Amino acid sequence: MKNPMHFLSVADWSAEALLALHDRACELKELFRRGERPQTLRGRTLAMYFEKPSLRTRVTFEAGVTQLGGHAIVLGPEQVGIGTRESARDVARNLSRWVDGVMARTFSHELLEELAREASIPVINGLTDRLHPCQAMADLQTIAERMDPREAVVAYVGDGNNVVHSLALLAAVLGMQLRIGTPESHRPDVAVMEQVKALSKASGAKVTMTDDPFEAVRDAHFVYTDTWTSMGQEAEAAERRKIFAPYQVNDALLEAAPAAFVMHCLPAHRGEEITDAVLDGDRAIVYDQAENRLHAQKAILERTLLTARP
Ligand code: CP
Ligand code: NVA
Repeated sequence: MKNPMHFLSVADWSAEALLALHDRACELKELFRRGERPQTLRGRTLAMYFEKPSLRTRVTFEAGVTQLGGHAIVLGPEQVGIGTRESARDVARNLSRWVDGVMARTFSHELLEELAREASIPVINGLTDRLHPCQAMADLQTIAERMDPREAVVAYVGDGNNVVHSLALLAAVLGMQLRIGTPESHRPDVAVMEQVKALSKASGAKVTMTDDPFEAVRDAHFVYTDTWTSMGQEAEAAERRKIFAPYQVNDALLEAAPAAFVMHCLPAHRGEEITDAVLDGDRAIVYDQAENRLHAQKAILERTLLTARP
C-alpha cells in the first residue's frame, strides 16, 4: 500500500510523497529560522511510547509537536506494560480514542506493526530493531542541503542495522546511489535488501554491498556510519568492537574519499565507529542531521495526523 495512514517505513511511501514531505520539512525549517511557528497541530495530541532510550527522537518529536501548537505525552513500558499489563491491541485501541497519533520506539518491528494494525490513528516509527525511517528523512534533507540527492554517492560503513536499512530503502524509492560496506557476517537483512532490489528496479537506484570499507567509500560525496552495538545488543559489544575495527571512520579511511562529508545518526561511540578527530572535524555534518530531525518529523506529523483527521 502506497502512502498509507502510518509512517512505519519509507518503502510504504511513493517517491512523490517522500519528496513532498521533504519540501515541507525545508519550508518548516525556514519558517522556524524566521521565528514563525505555524499552528497546524493546534489542539492535537501525540502519544510517544519509548521502549529504548533516546535524546534526539524524544526531544525533536516533543519540541516539534509543541512548535506546531500541539501537545505530546511520553509513555514508557513501565507505565503501559504492553504484553504484561495490557495487550498491544488494547493499548492501540485506547490511545485511538484519546489522541491524534502515536510515535513508538520499540525493539520489535512486529510490535510496531501490530500497534499500527490495531490503531485507528497514525502510528509513526521512532526506531525499531529493523528500521529508522524518520532518521532517513532527516538524512535526505541534510544531503539535499549540499547537493542533488540523486547525483550523490552515499557510502555507509559499519553494521548492517536499522539505520542503513532505512537509508537503503530511501535510496531505492528515490533512485539514489548507496554503497554499503559491512563485514560479510553483518550485512543488512536479506528481506530488506530484497525489497531494496525490487524498488531499485523501478527507480534506477544503485545500492551495492561490499566487505571492503575502502571500496565502499572511494570518492563518495557522503560517508555515513553508525554505532557497532545498537540498543539491545550490549552483551555483544566486546565481540563487535573486534569485528568492526577495520570499518572505523577515521582519517585513513577518509583519504579514499577526500571531498566527503561525514554523517552519523548519533549517539556516537567516540573512538569506536568514528574518531574524535573526524567527528569534531569540519567535514562532519552530524549536528545538521540532528537538527533536521525536528523539521523532517514536523512534516511527517502534519502529513499523517492531518490526513487522518483533517
Ligand atoms: N538518532 C537518534 O534516533 O537518536 P536518539 O536515539 O537519541 O533518539
Ligand atoms: N542503530 C542504532 C541507532 C540509534 C539511533 C540503534 O538502534 O541503537
